[in-house]
Order: sequence, then C-alpha cells, then structure tokens
Amino acid sequence: GAAVEVDISAVQPGEKIVVEWRGKPVWIMKRTAEQLKSLEEDEAQLADPNSDRKAYPTPEYAKNRHRSIKPEVFVGVGICSHLGCSPIDKFAVGTQPSLPEDWKGGFLCPCHGSTFDLAGRVFKNKPAPDNLEVPPHYYVSDTVLLIG
Ligand code: FES
Repeated sequence: GAAVEVDISAVQPGEKIVVEWRGKPVWIMKRTAEQLKSLEEDEAQLADPNSDRKAYPTPEYAKNRHRSIKPEVFVGVGICSHLGCSPIDKFAVGTQPSLPEDWKGGFLCPCHGSTFDLAGRVFKNKPAPDNLEVPPHYYVSDTVLLIG
C-alpha cells in the first residue's frame, strides 16, 4: 500500500486527527505537557509499559515511554488488539463511569472495556492483549509525516 503524507502543523496540543493508511485509521495526536507527564504516573498499571510484546512489534524509534519519535506527537493505529474495535477518546475524568477515579486520560474500547493510556499502552487485566500498533513512519520535515 502507498505511504500517506500528512502535514501536522495545524494540529493543536491536546488534539487528535485521524488519517487512513492501508484501510486502517491512524491517529496522530499532539499531547500536551500535562498529558505527557501522565504517561509516567500510570506506568505500574500497564501490561506492557516498555512495548516488549511482539504481536505488533513496536518500531525501535517508538520503544520509549511516549512511544513516538517526537515526545509530543503520538502516531498509532486506532484498532483494539482484542477483537478490532476502534477505541474512543477519553481524555477527561467523569466522561465514563467505569473509568478509574484517578484516570489521567487515554482511550477506551467500547466493545469490551479495554483501556489504553495516551501512548496507546494497554492497562493490565483487560481483554486486549497488546498495546496499540505504532505504524512505521518518519518525518519528512519538521511538520510533515510519512506513514508507511
Ligand atoms: Fe477492544 Fe474487545 S475489541 S476490548
């Protein structure tokens, strides 16, 4: 499949856009400084915080806490590793009764309740076995990404 070029210069901090790549929804999210900080705080509750699992091998350049090349820009495939539903944005506490009280924001799969942090890392004891896939990608320039 063809690679997809995306200009992300207009994406605001805290905003997520979706582009299509090989028929899959690819999320591009610019995380705020607070959102990045939240990635440290929930780590003990994650199933695979270092992205070591192999089902969807994480590219080397995304094997870090923020799972991305630039810390603030997350690029991930929006397909749950359980049965393929598309998780929805849950960036704020109180948006879903079943979220933990100390929820820092992330993604929730509406099908069977798997939750992911803002780097697409799955929480423990959820049906989804793996973190969200990070597609191969690189920066053509400071604000233009090539996915694929
Ligand atoms: Fe996402 Fe089952 S498909 S939790």
